[in-house]
Amino acid sequence: MRSVSIIGVGRTKFGEHWGLSLRELVTEAALKSIEAAKIDGKEIQAVYGGCMASGHFTGQEHIGALIADQLGLNPLPSTRLEAACASGGVALRNAYLSISSGEHDVVAVGGVEKMTEVDVGQAGFALGGAGDQETELFHGATFPALYALMARKHMEEYGTTEEQMAAVSVKNHHNGMLNPYSQFHREITIEDVMKSGYVASPLKLLDCSPLTDGAAAVILCETGKAKKLSDNVVEIIASAQASDTLALTGRKSITELMATKVAAKKAFEQAKLKPSDIDLVEAHDCFSIAEIMAIEDLGFFKKGDGGKATEEGKTALDGEIPINPSGGLKMGHPVGATGVKQIVELFWQLRGEAGQRQVKGAEIGLAHNVGGSGATAVVHILRKA
Ligand code: COA
Repeated sequence: MRSVSIIGVGRTKFGEHWGLSLRELVTEAALKSIEAAKIDGKEIQAVYGGCMASGHFTGQEHIGALIADQLGLNPLPSTRLEAACASGGVALRNAYLSISSGEHDVVAVGGVEKMTEVDVGQAGFALGGAGDQETELFHGATFPALYALMARKHMEEYGTTEEQMAAVSVKNHHNGMLNPYSQFHREITIEDVMKSGYVASPLKLLDCSPLTDGAAAVILCETGKAKKLSDNVVEIIASAQASDTLALTGRKSITELMATKVAAKKAFEQAKLKPSDIDLVEAHDCFSIAEIMAIEDLGFFKKGDGGKATEEGKTALDGEIPINPSGGLKMGHPVGATGVKQIVELFWQLRGEAGQRQVKGAEIGLAHNVGGSGATAVVHILRKA
């Protein structure tokens, strides 16, 4: 297996982009990544695109071909990958495998979603397809409802409180204030979260990630070649993926994501590292409870301690282990783009280019991307080369 590195990244601002189409969003991010990598687009040998539900949201499918076409990269192979909200992470992993296997040397990865052209009910239906259509969505279980079940059980089993979940959102809104690409730029308090209306009890509006338009892109390169092109390379030292049952009913426990635990274990083994070696994490916080479960399942805190650790500031920018310095999914979650955006953030952090939200001394970062309610999980570990 050959070593793979990142040589350039780009992203759009996340938010409601009434003036930009799906293709304009992904093109903007891709061109920025090519420019940042300082390569000629002709050096790219393949394209991998993450996108979850563009047909539902915009009517446009065939996103692989669309990206190559927009970038003038025909006739290169260009493939769309769909794994719900983990589409971006899975696209990155497949691009990584295409280089590590020796098939390609330089590959572009994009992630995109444009979610605000439909109303919230239609969006909920499109997102609900990431769960089990027959046993969950058909009966009205939306994604906030599925995560609400996990939250309720976590509260029951471990004493996690609504205030502890609110602390996740308060932290991520704070970090998002320092990120010019965020959907929201507003500090919130625990009281604000507690007063925001219930979406699916115990989850309230401010416990949820929003509906978002946006795109992100990265350029991957075989590490030997990458070092010749740039003296500031970020290496992907682990890439792992795991699956679990589509429906929550099939699981032994709903207070943990087994796929996250398995992918994390494999990634740590591959990188020959342990959680305490990681300097920062971009974790999948589609709902506040999801971040609490993630920091436990990834091994940063004991099961049941995630809420307390967040409340105590251990996951803040200057805490023991900064979680979501970008502001996370709470600051915008264009589902197909999120997994790629996490990598963009880690790249900037590991190169010391993250501005006001820079984690001091960041050398090793972990990205954790989840599809649906945990049926797919992808973990990547990156190190400044
Ligand atoms: N966080 C913070 N503010 C939010 C927000 C969020 N998640 N969602 C909406 N807002 C704000 C809006 O900016 C707006 O503010 P304004 O009045 O100052 O303009 C206000 O709240 C109302 O927004 P609106 O668009 O009417 O909200 P909505 O009721 O249509 O949608 C949710 C709110 C929570 C239902 C929707 O964002 C949602 O479905 N989120 C979950 C997405 C999801 O499931 N993703 C997949 C995860 S696996």
